[in-house]
Amino acid sequence: MIAPWSLPDFDDHEGVHLFRDAASGLTAVIAVHSTHLGPAAGGTRFWHYADPAEAITDVLRLSRGMSFKNAMAGLPMGGGKAVILADPLRTKTPAMLAAFGRAVDSLGGRYVTAEDVGMSDADMVAISQQTKHVSGLPVAAGNAGGDPGPTTALGVYLGVRAAIARGLGKSDPRGVHVAIQGVGSVGGALARLLAADGARLTLADADAKRARALADELGAELVSTGEIMTVEADVLSPCALGAVLDERSIAALQVGIVAGAANNQLATQADADRIHARGILYAPDYVINAGGIINVALEYLGQGDRAEVEARVARIPERLEAIWSESASSGVAAAVVADRMAMRLIGRG
Ligand code: NAI
Repeated sequence: MIAPWSLPDFDDHEGVHLFRDAASGLTAVIAVHSTHLGPAAGGTRFWHYADPAEAITDVLRLSRGMSFKNAMAGLPMGGGKAVILADPLRTKTPAMLAAFGRAVDSLGGRYVTAEDVGMSDADMVAISQQTKHVSGLPVAAGNAGGDPGPTTALGVYLGVRAAIARGLGKSDPRGVHVAIQGVGSVGGALARLLAADGARLTLADADAKRARALADELGAELVSTGEIMTVEADVLSPCALGAVLDERSIAALQVGIVAGAANNQLATQADADRIHARGILYAPDYVINAGGIINVALEYLGQGDRAEVEARVARIPERLEAIWSESASSGVAAAVVADRMAMRLIGRG
């Protein structure tokens, strides 16, 4: 048996809950990292893990990240995350979702779920038959909630603009060259917003057809996925995968700014210092990509409409500014400054 508290990613999590439902085949783990600021909020990942220990590591790491993200977004929510351990064929059934909904409900609101990788808004609707502690449900226009992607893109766009202002001294992105890795839900919406401002774009996506269609629509340049990380540009915006910034890739960057949506962009803690040492202005991922969680949290809390969501997303640049200012005055890497701020907010600083 794996003792979660002996794993390196265990960080005094308040609870790590294992759920099994033999009838439906559900195996799930829900990690509650912190409820200091409110109910632990974070999505459910439906994923096939070759080794169950990887699932525990994932949920421990991701739930801690949600504590930091929610705190820095100014939300009255703690941090949690769930993983459902799928079989190799990733078979998902209504009975399994119902069992998972009951598992969430059994925590009595200490954990609030939403979509993550492998889960859709339709799955959230199924889960909502069993528990009210769920968000990311389809909503009417004008309300908070629904697909978080476009709202995440809005926050990243505002964060990129703030980085351009700080790093390049430019008040708008006209003529600024932005390279975007991954043009899916978030990266695609970001590209459209920047194109409307007159930015020069270079795009790459593993889905070549998707990348080509967007490049044609926006008049952007297209490069391969192998080239995007070394494009000579003003800004690199990672909007695909995590762990893209490691010793080798950081050494090869040809940009002055890295600001994008992908979660966990830094492969290791040491990479925070590496990017700082290169003099690159880095927007900590969980600060710049908080638009989506702001959207679903306000839906869950019933606190405001779409206009309120946008007003809160508009505050992302000032949080980035505070981090960059402290980083500049202290000489400490921006990612480390952000972690310290978040730790203080959740009562662990
Ligand atoms: P998505 O699945 O819609 O888009 C990701 C895109 O990246 C896809 O088009 C995919 O083909 C492409 N891709 C995959 N591997 C690639 C590679 N090696 N090189 C270039 N492109 C590659 O996902 P979404 O929702 O746009 O999310 C993007 C990132 O932002 C993810 O890391 C996600 O965790 C993060 N994020 C998303 C949020 C949201 O609200 N959707 C919220 C916070 C973070």
